[in-house]
Amino acid sequence: MIKFNNLNKEIPFLLFKAKYDKAVDAGQKAIEAISISSFNKEISEVDSRYVNLKFITNDEFIFFSNYNSVKAASFNSHNQIAALVYWPSINVQIRIKAEIKKTSNEFNKKYFFDRSEEKNALAISSNQSKPIDSYNQVKENYNKSLNNDNLKKCPEFWGGYSFTPYYFEFWEGHESRLNKREVYEKSDNSWKHLVLQP
Ligand SMILES: Cc1cc2nc3c(=O)[nH]c(=O)nc-3n(C[C@H](O)[C@H](O)[C@H](O)COP(=O)(O)O)c2cc1C
Repeated sequence: MIKFNNLNKEIPFLLFKAKYDKAVDAGQKAIEAISISSFNKEISEVDSRYVNLKFITNDEFIFFSNYNSVKAASFNSHNQIAALVYWPSINVQIRIKAEIKKTSNEFNKKYFFDRSEEKNALAISSNQSKPIDSYNQVKENYNKSLNNDNLKKCPEFWGGYSFTPYYFEFWEGHESRLNKREVYEKSDNSWKHLVLQP
């Protein structure tokens, strides 16, 4: 589930929430999973991966990760991303474009402190996205990490990312491919509304 705090009152954020509520009511599984596509300028490569969206606070969409991972290198190189959800229970796709940045140290520390020690042990033990000899080695590192005497202390290399959308496309699937596509694009501080052909 995504936690909404003080949600921004502008139309696309309210629409996102309305679709989210409808998908929850329809029993949507893994509703917080969102694909994040990034571009790494240094190697001229686009990449995507799912993350779990934990919070939407005002206009900021927040997830957590490792600051030394492949995605982190992409975000450092190019701070613009595309995010994507598809909720089959209501046949809705939402495409987002946004700029991404790290959340504050204090925010990361507090969030880490509130998480389970088991999750934290993994976050501490894993050099995310780096190769390792075997999966057994991953498990050994994790088991060693469980004995760490302070599993509530957030490591420097772990924390949140926040992205603020400047573009939303809401796609609703309908019969006979009469799909409905509505775009909200921010320009000059206001949202422009467009309807696109399917
Ligand atoms: C549904 C789902 C949710 C995930 N959530 C997260 C997450 O919140 N944070 C994270 O770092 N990785 C998450 N992962 C793992 C990422 O997809 C990815 O494997 C990992 O972050 C490494 O990505 P990178 O090599 O591009 O940095 C999730 C995977 C799936 C399938």
